[in-house]
Amino acid sequence: MTQRLTYSSIIFLLLFLPSHKYASGELVYSQNGMVVSASQTASEVGVDILKQGGNAIDAAVATGFALAVTYPSAGNIGGGGFMVININGHNTTIDFRETAPFAATEKMLLDEEGNYNTKKSLHEWTSVGIPGSVAGLIYALEKYGTMNLREVIQPAIDLAENGFVLDYWLTESINKFYSSFSSIESSKNIFTNKGDSLKMNSLFVQKDLANTLKLIRDNGKDGFYKGIIADIFVEQSRNNNGLISYEDLENYKAIERDPIISSYKEYQIIGMPPPSAGGIGIAQTLAVLEKYNFTKEQWASSGYIHTISEILKYVYADRAEYIGDNDFHEVPIDYLLSENHINDIYSKISETAIPSLEINNIHYFPSEKTETTHYSVIDRDGNAVSTTVSLNSSYGNKIVLDGAGFLLNNHMDDFTAKVGVENQFGIVGSEANKIAPGKRMLSSMSPTIVLNDDKPFLILGSPGGSTIITSVLQVIINVLEFNMNIRDAINAPRFHHQWLPDEIVLESYGMTEDVKFNLINRGHKLKEISILGRVEGILFDKHNNLYWGSSDKRGFGKAVGY
Ligand code: DON
Repeated sequence: MTQRLTYSSIIFLLLFLPSHKYASGELVYSQNGMVVSASQTASEVGVDILKQGGNAIDAAVATGFALAVTYPSAGNIGGGGFMVININGHNTTIDFRETAPFAATEKMLLDEEGNYNTKKSLHEWTSVGIPGSVAGLIYALEKYGTMNLREVIQPAIDLAENGFVLDYWLTESINKFYSSFSSIESSKNIFTNKGDSLKMNSLFVQKDLANTLKLIRDNGKDGFYKGIIADIFVEQSRNNNGLISYEDLENYKAIERDPIISSYKEYQIIGMPPPSAGGIGIAQTLAVLEKYNFTKEQWASSGYIHTISEILKYVYADRAEYIGDNDFHEVPIDYLLSENHINDIYSKISETAIPSLEINNIHYFPSEKTETTHYSVIDRDGNAVSTTVSLNSSYGNKIVLDGAGFLLNNHMDDFTAKVGVENQFGIVGSEANKIAPGKRMLSSMSPTIVLNDDKPFLILGSPGGSTIITSVLQVIINVLEFNMNIRDAINAPRFHHQWLPDEIVLESYGMTEDVKFNLINRGHKLKEISILGRVEGILFDKHNNLYWGSSDKRGFGKAVGY
């Protein structure tokens, strides 16, 4: 009897404990709140803030600063991002995308012959946009948070100052760039072990970063955009043919913008407006897709993949032609989302693949690579935050700001360096996304909140450059249309089409030979890739009043609830 009681109590505990933590790719549930990010430690920092009574914004800001320490490939203070918020029923977004320096010129990323030059746009100081993350996180906290900066940034300071143990994944991730880090003295000092590669299980201490975070803690935004950090920034930029000035840093502002709000069946989709193409792209695709009635059996069939790919060609052609920083070049948002335009796209989709250049042959040469990270947060009151941040390439341009301990973004490459030429993501752009002083570069980052009955139902986002939009979109469809749970919706194989290049990109092992054969017969080219995106998502289950979270099995993050 005693034994039975013990067993049943264990089973009871396993089933009903309010808080669970598992590895990436697992399904986690909780009752009071949840943070899902690419780093377990950063998710735990966020959940601690929730436990202290902080709201979703407090937790998101704490997670954001922690990611700058524990996930240096993309979590950052030297880059930028976007935040979508639903708080007390109010939807809003914060744009903290990097800006081009005031001295930027349209052709600054071209070489002497006028060709797109990856050194300038990806590797050297000319690749650096004015970072927005510090301004963005502080804006969110001051306007929508309940705690002070000191409280939410301290965990990140402690992690940087006292160090944390390098796990296998982070060690591998950093060591992959050993030769780049070794070639830059300031980066070598942090991302190598005195010139050797880093060792798993060693303590990773970042004193300079801790000091920078303390300056922010003590002086707010000015601790980063003025004073000693600004001095270091401007001096090193000048010494390396960069364009960054005091004026650029002092004038950087996060901008609160109205979200792109669209609907799919009984759900509302709250997405990021320009300079992200994410909100518009997801809204357009869902609006066309709503006209179809896919059955469960059709999921991942060749017809299903064909239809979505065809819609995506139009969506990405629109992106290339029309989307950029709306404050510099008007984006025809109403037209792009109008019933007429959606019907027009729908009417053009047939059983066979339409060649991309028949959709639009504007001679854009695609130019967008690859590290970004997303975190999703919900609190006990159902307030939700969806944030995607990036340095653009993995570890940005690999340059650590000497003395300040953080990596610099190479987001200037997200501008259309040359109309019609591919960037690192093979994506092309137009006049709408040309470089101009103070302008924000076009992005695919798609932090999204889906509402049901006006309450956050699904909170998600992903890295993946130009594939972000399609990764986020497919998880939304998997949940809304096919009723998958959040883990299955995230882990299911994905595919991608971005108009140019004219090919369906699919995850290896993600499609049967039969489906591939049928797609080729319909006129598609196929290309295999190891992974598409890494979605971090939360779903609210109103029947059981539970939050379900999952960190993509493609990554090494964690959903942590309480
Ligand atoms: O803003 C953008 O769309 C890109 N710079 C994001 C880069 C990215 O997602 C790379 N990640 N894997």
